[in-house]
Amino acid sequence: MTDRAFKQAHSQAQDLLDFIDASPSPWHAVDTAVQRLSKQGYSALDESQAWQLKAGLGYYVVRGGASIIAFHLGQKKPNESGFRLVGAHTDSPGLRLKPKAAYATDDLIRIGVEVYGGPILATFTDRDLSVAGRISLRSKNGFDLRLVKLDQPMLRLPNLAIHMNREVNDKGLLLNKQTELPLIFGQCEAGVDAEQAFLSQLAQSANANAADMLSFELNVFDTQKGSFWGAKQAFIANSQLDNLASCHAALSALLATEKPMATTVCALFDHEEVGSESATGASGSFLSDVLQRISSSQQLDDDARLQAMARSFLVSADMAHAYHPNHPSAYEPCHHVLVNHGPVIKTNANHRYASNAESSARFMQLCEAAGVPYQQYAHRSDLGCGSTIGPIVAANLGVPSVDVGSPMWAMHSLRESAGVLDHAYMIAVLSALYRS
Ligand code: CO
Repeated sequence: MTDRAFKQAHSQAQDLLDFIDASPSPWHAVDTAVQRLSKQGYSALDESQAWQLKAGLGYYVVRGGASIIAFHLGQKKPNESGFRLVGAHTDSPGLRLKPKAAYATDDLIRIGVEVYGGPILATFTDRDLSVAGRISLRSKNGFDLRLVKLDQPMLRLPNLAIHMNREVNDKGLLLNKQTELPLIFGQCEAGVDAEQAFLSQLAQSANANAADMLSFELNVFDTQKGSFWGAKQAFIANSQLDNLASCHAALSALLATEKPMATTVCALFDHEEVGSESATGASGSFLSDVLQRISSSQQLDDDARLQAMARSFLVSADMAHAYHPNHPSAYEPCHHVLVNHGPVIKTNANHRYASNAESSARFMQLCEAAGVPYQQYAHRSDLGCGSTIGPIVAANLGVPSVDVGSPMWAMHSLRESAGVLDHAYMIAVLSALYRS
């Protein structure tokens, strides 16, 4: 790699870190995506209105606040060229606040949380945490939804001292999800109810009155910004790399592709970490609804619409497990995928990943066309394998699909890490897909 290419990869990685830092919750991630799309001339579509789509233009649709589908109409009709689809997820595992979260004990206000998906809980200890998400506020016409974020570190989960947890280094840090996860928010004040203290802080940050607040969905996030690390600063660290790195790569590739031949689609879904089974998740109707409406806007009949699906290709982009040299026994021989060695094609005989020989070959040739190296991954047979939106969307649409991702360390830690070059490689190959 030339110095110039490395510099460019660095600036793409910086852009990714900025994207994540602006997106402390899946609702914020969609808002960040919307800002980037509208800056480049993409127009918002409302699912409750009729759509008038113009050839050659870009559009986006948000469903439920945390899922978004952006697309650019191709020069050819979908029945002639199919759709070029990239799917990823906006949510990350972590802690979510319970509806009546704040309560007082022993002079302290604590915040009750629920575990969302499968985070490495121990990584939430001793970090500068805060909350971000959305709230509903009474308005003239019922209620409005508003994004909210407490910028300062507002919450903390202090470790128990080693003097009271003598076996922590031999047995690992175990935390009871009900009794040992509540986060410390503040100290009690005479005459102030714990819940009121928390809600008014929240309302204040949204320029609203606590009395107008009806409900909220709040994610616990790490206020520490993303960083580069290591020799030549070749690695990055941040929260939510799984899977905002893939969202960012897909969006960057979409926005970089002008005048695509086929209609290009970037679908970013909420709820992947909890099974995708929702009105806004990959298992729901969102993507097929949008594709159907694109097809009918171009007067495609049922037959032509099915031709379009048969000519389409889906790349499901989600992060992959990089080889960790301190834990060689955790990996399958011959499938050690290395950081900064290129996108990973994930295969599983039981179809936890959507890849097969045909879709893998297609992706390999896209890599070759883009001058990008690639790697192949299979999980150890005696360990449970994760899954992705790939098989779910493939089953819904009946579209040939492949599961890929950039290699990363510490998946589902609050501070994950990955490679600078891999992110540039992923943007390059997804751009090649959109140009194909
Ligand atoms: Co993921």
